[in-house]
Amino acid sequence: VKPIRVALLGCGTVGTEVVRLLTDQAEDLTQRIGAPVELAGIAVRRPNKHREVPEHLLTTDAEALVKSDDVDVIVEVIGGIDPTRGLLLEALRRGKSVVTANKALLAEHGPDLFEAADASGADLYFEAAVAGAIPLLRPLRESLAGDRITRVMGIVNGTTNFILSAMDATGAGYSETLEEASRLGYAEADPTADVDGFDAASKAAILASLAFHTRVTASDVYREGIRAVSAADIAAAKGLGRTVKLLAICERVTSPSGQESVAVRVHPAMIPRTHPLASVNGAFNAVFVEADAAGEMMFYGQGAGGAPTASAVVGDLVAVARNMVASGHGPRESAYAALTAQPMGNT
Ligand code: NDP
Ligand code: HSE
Repeated sequence: VKPIRVALLGCGTVGTEVVRLLTDQAEDLTQRIGAPVELAGIAVRRPNKHREVPEHLLTTDAEALVKSDDVDVIVEVIGGIDPTRGLLLEALRRGKSVVTANKALLAEHGPDLFEAADASGADLYFEAAVAGAIPLLRPLRESLAGDRITRVMGIVNGTTNFILSAMDATGAGYSETLEEASRLGYAEADPTADVDGFDAASKAAILASLAFHTRVTASDVYREGIRAVSAADIAAAKGLGRTVKLLAICERVTSPSGQESVAVRVHPAMIPRTHPLASVNGAFNAVFVEADAAGEMMFYGQGAGGAPTASAVVGDLVAVARNMVASGHGPRESAYAALTAQPMGNT
């Protein structure tokens, strides 16, 4: 059987765990997919620092991997907008399917990527971009596609939840807890993305786009981070039987004239200690989804960290690889445009 050749772009906290899963699970994955998955190359910035992966696979030339005829699928875990936007557009235009964990890129340039994928028939999967290991985006895209989602609300940033939980539990200081979150691999390369709410805003934009079948970008999201939350605020909340959580809230709103729009916001909120979200601690995430027919659902699990995120990345890779096997390794029709085609005002 023809192997599926994968280029891994980035080999940091998440990428290292993707390599480990692909190696440890190689035989099982071959059976589940119907073809072996092989690493064709791994792009990094500093090859000398990567003793954990076979040296012959390492390169600093991500573009060459994207353009190589020896590569079928691109897995991107570099992060950020540059050079990832150009690399992924190039891959999709060439009909190569892409798996990415890059919420910042999707929330800003998602429409360009989806258009490129649709034009070439390549797949674009990104389960890891929101809530780490938790299967959330595919349920929104697929399982709930026949329902009408009215609200998505929850904790979608592990770093800030780790910090707020520690401040609540032990009175620990903000800076020391942020350092610990970075050491554990939860925080972004630039942790201001976490503490100022940009990361949660990107995730909220992706969730709103999928839940409401419309295009929401990070700049449409009202955003407040946790930098201004003090130990005194946490103590005051405790005194009121509450705790502080950074919430992402995406909901349909209807104006008095009956015009429907979506409202998307990220901000710290005091919630009762009896609320289910109050017991979501550490780097765990939890998201409530409300839909007309399905009612209320809660998704809960590890929202950050190398191994949990790699689980979602490799799950997407299996889905992409199965599609390729089913279509004889050629590009296939993508229905992504239809998923986000509905115009709707954002508030
Ligand atoms: P890291 O900073 O740990 O790793 C980034 C990797 O990209 C490094 O291996 C780095 O190389 C490589 N890299 C950077 N620039 C380039 C370049 N120009 N060309 C080639 N390689 C490059 O990031 P993470 O693994 O934490 O995150 C990766 C992605 O996953 C991000 O989009 C992040 O938002 C997302 N994500 C992360 C989660 C987490 O918990 N960490 C959870 C969910 C999503 P080198 O090692 O040589 O410096
Ligand atoms: N920095 C992110 C977080 C990683 O703390 O949630 C997971 O997306």
